[in-house]
Amino acid sequence: MLIKKAADIPSSEITPKSLYLDRRKFISGATIFGAALATGACEMARPSQTVEANTKLSTVKSSFSTDEKLTPLKDISNYNNFYEFSVDKYGPADLARNFKTSPWKVQVTGAVAQKKTYDLDELMKLASLEERIYRMRCVEGWSMVIPWVGFPLSKLIDQVQPTSKAKYVAFTSVYRPSEMPGQRSNVLDWPYTEGLRMDEAMNPLTLLTFGMYGETLPNQDGAPVRIVVPWKYGFKGIKSIVKIDFVGHEPATAWNKAAPNEYGFYSNVNPNVDHPRWSQATERRIGEFLKRKTLMFNGYGDQVASLYSGMDLKKYF
Ligand code: MTE
Repeated sequence: MLIKKAADIPSSEITPKSLYLDRRKFISGATIFGAALATGACEMARPSQTVEANTKLSTVKSSFSTDEKLTPLKDISNYNNFYEFSVDKYGPADLARNFKTSPWKVQVTGAVAQKKTYDLDELMKLASLEERIYRMRCVEGWSMVIPWVGFPLSKLIDQVQPTSKAKYVAFTSVYRPSEMPGQRSNVLDWPYTEGLRMDEAMNPLTLLTFGMYGETLPNQDGAPVRIVVPWKYGFKGIKSIVKIDFVGHEPATAWNKAAPNEYGFYSNVNPNVDHPRWSQATERRIGEFLKRKTLMFNGYGDQVASLYSGMDLKKYF
């Protein structure tokens, strides 16, 4: 994860939203949300077959949102870490153009009473979609404010009913080297994997995420479904998920496997624990010149600090 600052992005490399949306191609399927848009906010979209790109999503507001200034969509969607496509942050926007996100299935398995493979549209129907404006902090020292669209992962967990053997949730991204050029190299051990402890996964802030800025996710931001965990460094937010496995042991995670001394399982935003190669005390908000202080748990301590009480966060970094 190399560092480049947003200020380094030449304006010529920032694609206007209209252009990049036009460029995104998906396999065809019925347009499903049109009718839902006309319905009330609580009546979430009821897709019937496939979920298309650039689709407006009907959302309810969330009390968990910050009122900080949003990072423009052009910055969020043109400065990405998505190693399946490229190790260059400016690469995924273009290289993910033809990535096929429909049809899409997510297998939910392991220590649960109700093992099930969901079609994406079925998954999206499980709960009302919320707009959640979260601060996001990358381990590399930059941050953004992103209006995600999704619902708490706990809604899915409640449905599949984990057994007492489920202590952690392991997530797996899609493995499709024919469409993902980065997977043809061994820069990471594919497929990308991540994990959360069960209480972290159940925390109301943990979002199963389908969109941003009121529309389905851009491919480069993890379409069609990803995880967002706002009190952890961005790399915990695994993209393009195909499997959610309830397990009894701490699962292996992509970055921990790649560099165990640099990226621990917990990865909580913590200004007091330096990355071995740089400080984590400050961050640069994309679009701002001066750095700001990084907050413990990215400012979400009231909601999550209790999850770690009694733990030595230098050891469990
Ligand atoms: N998920 C997958 N499958 N592959 C990746 O390379 N990168 C992670 C995370 N999720 C990554 C991933 C990292 S390092 C970050 S910082 C965030 O995605 C970036 O998300 P964004 O590009 O939407 O801002």
